[in-house]
Parts: sequence; structure tokens; C-alpha cells
Amino acid sequence: MPEILRPTPENIIIASEAIQRGHLVIFPTETVYGLGADATNVKAVKKIFTAKGRPSDNPLIAHIFDLSQLSSVVEDVSEDAKLLMSKFWPGPLTIVLKKKLSIPNEVSAGLDTVGVRMPNNTIALDFLRACGCPVAAPSANISTRPSSTRLEHLLVDFINTENISYIIDGGDSEIGIESTVVDMTTAEPAILRPGVITAEMIEKVLNKKVKFLGEKSDAKTPKSPGMKYRHYAPQAVVRLVSFAEAKSLVDKNKAMVYAVDDESFFASLSEQNLYDIFRQADIGGQEVVYILDSKALRQRAGLYNRILKASEGV
Ligand code: TXA
Ligand code: MG
Repeated sequence: MPEILRPTPENIIIASEAIQRGHLVIFPTETVYGLGADATNVKAVKKIFTAKGRPSDNPLIAHIFDLSQLSSVVEDVSEDAKLLMSKFWPGPLTIVLKKKLSIPNEVSAGLDTVGVRMPNNTIALDFLRACGCPVAAPSANISTRPSSTRLEHLLVDFINTENISYIIDGGDSEIGIESTVVDMTTAEPAILRPGVITAEMIEKVLNKKVKFLGEKSDAKTPKSPGMKYRHYAPQAVVRLVSFAEAKSLVDKNKAMVYAVDDESFFASLSEQNLYDIFRQADIGGQEVVYILDSKALRQRAGLYNRILKASEGV
């Protein structure tokens, strides 16, 4: 059963020592909470998959606090990758690069690449600095459930999990959806998972076209293994509805409809509260979560992607 720690300097040391001894620690980041282990310790990394019920062919992201750690995680860093790091790190961008042999296959799920990220959260950075090692961390949720953006989400998922030593309480996640994942190992960079850092923002920095592999992956071996699993979804059915349907549901007092659009008759939706909406629906036994499908929503690629995945049940 994990112990909850306030993010004091003393507690951050205590949590980092647990990582160094091969235990698991949940820590806050600006996107969602992460379930961390020493990325160089195979035994510790394996505990992550057990605690989450995560398929072992879905690779983990290595988190670092400083560029000096890069050389212990990845082979060569291209000029383009360096540009992205200088522009977006620390921040919600995971960069996939060729992995160093010292990073075990358990982290990369057998791939010869690894995703690296420097989170933009002072608690996370202090914790990673104290750990000293790169920290492998997926989102801290039971596999298939929405990521955790609040302490209460973590307690629902992990209150009875033996193998997690500590939860560092960092309050509510600032962004609320996971980082953008960009593959920089191919000639044309590719967005494997959209997030608040958009393809357009990356294109502007690199001054070249960036591929987006689309919302659905039918390929047998998807580029990002995580894309083939059910994700981000509540038990409730998520339904995208037109304005007319949404208005009628609200007018007839049949259901609440969430929208990014600023209309008083809709409940407010954003990256920040999406997973809480999903989780609250499940706690309340709600059968359907209605979301307005609008132009404004489609423009928010990360948010729209998570909603599509949840609504398709894939
Ligand atoms: O914001 C985030 O990225 C959070 C916080 C904790 O940093 N982490 C997170 O990790 O969302 P996770 O494991 O839930 O999602 C990582 C995604 C998965 O879809 C995985 O398949 C993909 O990144 N990924 C990781 N390493 C990869 C690699 N080497 N090649 C392709 N995709 C990779
Ligand atoms: Mg996840």
C-alpha cells in the first residue's frame, strides 16, 4: 500500500531513495501522474507492468531532469531533435530516439528506440534530480483506465497495490492529457500521439513537414505499440453529438453535455478536466458521457484524439 508524501525536500529524498533501491514511486508531472522506476533496473521496471496490468509490448518513456542525462539513454541526437529539446523542454513532448544498450529491453518493449521526456514540473524535476538515474514511467493508472490527473484517481487505482512505495502529491495536473510523442528516428518526423504541442508547432520549429499517423492504426505492428490498446476510456459510453442533439438533450433535461465551446447551457470541457469527467462518470454509475462535436473541439488535436479513442472503445 503506497504512502502519500507531501512534496517537501525531505520527502523527495525519501522517494528518490526508494527508486534507487528498485521500488516504484508515483510522481506528478505537468501532463498526468507517472508511475516511476529506475529505468536501468530490469527488476524494478518489470514491477511497473505488474502494478498496471500493462501488456509488456507497450514501451515506457524515460524521464530526465537535465540534458546531461541524455547520453545515458539515447545513442545519437540529431540536430532536429536538439532543436525540439531546446524549444519544448522541459515540457509535454516525448521524443523517440535510438536507444542506448544500457536501457533494458523491458523499458523499450524490445524496440531499438526509446521515448525521452523532460517534464515541466518542479516537483518532478527535483525528484528526478534526486534519483540521479533516468526514470521509466508510464501514466499512473490501471491499464485501460483513464490516466490519473488528481490524487483521488491514484487512490482509486492503487490504494491496495503492494509494490508501490510512495505517491508524491503534486495536486491536480496542470495540462491533464499525456505528452505529444514524436518519432525522430525516421527521415520525416512523425507524431505518434498528439498532445498540446501540435504538429504545426513542431513543423514551425523544424521548418519541415511532420507526419501524423492518423487516428486509427490498422497495421499489425503499429509504430507506437500503445496505439493498438484500448485507452483513455471510462466504463461509460462516450458519445460525440451534434449541436442540435446536444441542445435537445440539455433543453429536455435529459443529460448534461460537455463542450469546449463557451455556451452557458453546456458543461465545460478541457484537457485539464477530461479524465476527471470520465472517472466521475464511473463513480456515479453514469451510462453515457455526451460531448459536443464541434469545430473548436476538432482544433484541439490532443483532446479530440483522447475523446475519439474513448468513444470508439479502441
Ligand atoms: O505525459 C506523458 O507522456 C506521461 C507522463 C507520466 O510523462 N506518460 C505517459 O506514458 O503517457 P504512457 O506509457 O502511458 O504512454 C507512452 C506512449 C505509449 O503510447 C507508447 O506506446 C509510446 O508512448 N512510446 C513509448 N516509447 C516508444 C517508442 N520507443 N516508440 C514508439 N512509441 C513509444
Ligand atoms: Mg498511459
